Amino acid sequence: MALQGTLMGLSTHGMAGFDYQKAKKMLNIPNGYTVEMMIAAGIPGRSEDLPEELRARETPSQRKKLNEIIFEGNFNS
Ligand SMILES: Cc1cc2nc3c(=O)[nH]c(=O)nc-3n(C[C@H](O)[C@H](O)[C@H](O)COP(=O)(O)O)c2cc1C
Repeated sequence: MALQGTLMGLSTHGMAGFDYQKAKKMLNIPNGYTVEMMIAAGIPGRSEDLPEELRARETPSQRKKLNEIIFEGNFNS
């Protein structure tokens, strides 16, 4: 969904921190289905339009560099 959203010009944000039972009830999800996660999708806005405290959080997260976590071939090459 994140990849498809990106292709469609949307921002997506996966979440696990919500009330699963409440989501199931509010969305009328029938028995036989389980709620696994939530993804918010929306049209990206401009960070300039955010209140100062939220704008300050609009910085890249401190991810490890891809070459620290992704390897081509096997570990001996
Ligand atoms: C398993 C999992 C659960 C997450 N749950 C939440 C959540 O409940 N609320 C939230 O704001 N972000 C949550 N996130 C983080 C966002 O999805 C996050 O934006 C995403 O991992 C991309 O990372 P980034 O913020 O560094 O771009 C979760 C991420 C993962 C991997």
